This record gives sequence, C-alpha cells and structure tokens, in this order.
Amino acid sequence: MAQILTTPRAVAPRAARTRHYVMCPPTQFDVVYAINPWMDPTVAVDSVAARLQWQELHDTYLGLGHRVDLLDPVPGLPDMVFAANGAVSIGTRTYGAAFAFPQRQAEAHAHVDFLRGTGREVSRPAHVNEGEGDFLVLADVVLAGTGFRTSRDAHAEAAAALGRPVVSLDLVDPRFYHLDVALAVLDDGGGEAPADIAWFPGAFSRRSRRTLRRLFPGSWECSEADALAFGLNLVSDGWNVVLPREATDLASALVPRGYRPVPVALTEFVKGGGSVKCCTAELHR
Ligand code: ARG
Repeated sequence: MAQILTTPRAVAPRAARTRHYVMCPPTQFDVVYAINPWMDPTVAVDSVAARLQWQELHDTYLGLGHRVDLLDPVPGLPDMVFAANGAVSIGTRTYGAAFAFPQRQAEAHAHVDFLRGTGREVSRPAHVNEGEGDFLVLADVVLAGTGFRTSRDAHAEAAAALGRPVVSLDLVDPRFYHLDVALAVLDDGGGEAPADIAWFPGAFSRRSRRTLRRLFPGSWECSEADALAFGLNLVSDGWNVVLPREATDLASALVPRGYRPVPVALTEFVKGGGSVKCCTAELHR
C-alpha cells in the first residue's frame, strides 16, 4: 500500500552524446614495477587476454557510435595503455600531464606530440598531475583529485589552462589513488539532464564528502565492493555506461536512474591498477 502512495522519483531524460576518445593499444602493457597497491610484478600479465579485452573495449565504443583515435605505444612504457593519464583536453585546449613517478614520465611527451598533431594548444604543466586520472571534466566544472598523485597546485594551473573552474577533492585511501577510481561522471550536465555522478565516500576526506553531497545532491554513493571492482572507473556517454563486469550492484543501480549499463571484462588491466576509464582518454567538446 505504502508503495502505491509513493510518488516515483522522476528519472532524468538520458541521452547519449557522441564522444571522441583516445586509446593506446596494450602491446607494451606489463606489470614490471609497483606504483600503486594493485600492482605486483610477481603476478604475470596474460598479454593475449589483455589484447582481447582491450579490443573488446575499443570495439564497444565503436559499436556505440563513438570515435576512437589510437596513440602509438612506446616500448619501455608498460603503463601507456592507461591513456587517460596523459593529458586533459577540452575543446582546443589541453593541459599536459607531469607524472608523479619516474617510470611514467616519458608518456607525457607522446601525448603532447599526438595532441599537438590534432591542432590543440597544449599548456605544459609546472606541477605534478596525471591528466584525466585526477581531473574529471563536467560541462561547467572540473572535479580534481589530490592526495596521492596530482598536486594541489596543479588544480589552479589546470583551471587557468582549460578555462573552467576546478573543485579540489582530497583522496585518502591509497587503493583509490586517482580520482577516476573513486568517482565517475555519469552525466556531465552538458545536455538536458543535470550533472550526475557516482562515487565511493570512503575514498574521500570528510570535507570532500560534504562538498560532493552539496554539489551533487542525490548522487549515487556506491559500495566499497563496487569501488574495489573498479566499478567507478567507467565511461559514460550520458546514457550508455561502459563499466567493469564485476561491478554488478552499481550496474543494477544505474538502470532506475535511466542509464544503460554496458559491462566489459578488463581483468588483466586491474593487475596494473586500472580499468575502463583508465584506458580511455576523452577529448571533451
Ligand atoms: N599503473 C598505473 C599507475 O599506477 C595505472 C594508472 C591507472 N589510470 C587511471 N586513470 N587511474 O599509474
């Protein structure tokens, strides 16, 4: 009875918008050093499985009607498959990355060369930052993580380089060392519906939790199990949400919010500490 009397919560009208992604084939992918708690160089990567899983993700994007450009893998850079970390691009502006660990620093040059080649104006950073690993772009704001990789000073630098305000968020759990493993943009707010996110509160400081609840009332707060399954490391086009297959509760929660979950298997990349979003850089409008 109670249920009949309850007014159903209005579901925002979801609409997919065609996206432009950049991916880097995993031909060099391996785990030969450990720079996050997920990496263990004694656990072998199955390179054939990695190649197939990456291809499935790539083909999923094409099947959804998106554009995917490829960045050439560079020998000696086994984490380059995690293309999201190389820069942040909005329109013709790009803010380059400056990686925290020496093992990844050379990746930034490959991204700069590629993005300059597309006619983008690239701002070289003075501060450590790991691109879309810690900067998540919404239509009128950029959410920025700090605590493990990207420095707080980079947040202001990014705001100036990209011409969009930045909201700083403090990450406190080393398992969620980048913002894109702790928070997902489901709808960037660039269309009819308001911006919408999913996030794991345990990854953030109390102050940042308050900030997120104020900015995104009614956002989806996922379980630790979904977050540990890399569920938040997802890519949404505003309707289709490509996410790791293991994040089953999150996938179920997306449906009544009006989204269409598209599960993929990316288990080999979890050995490097990444999943869907880490493998996908977006060139934002
Ligand atoms: N092994 C990489 C690192 O620790 C993984 C990067 C994951 N990328 C991401 N966007 N979270 O730097």
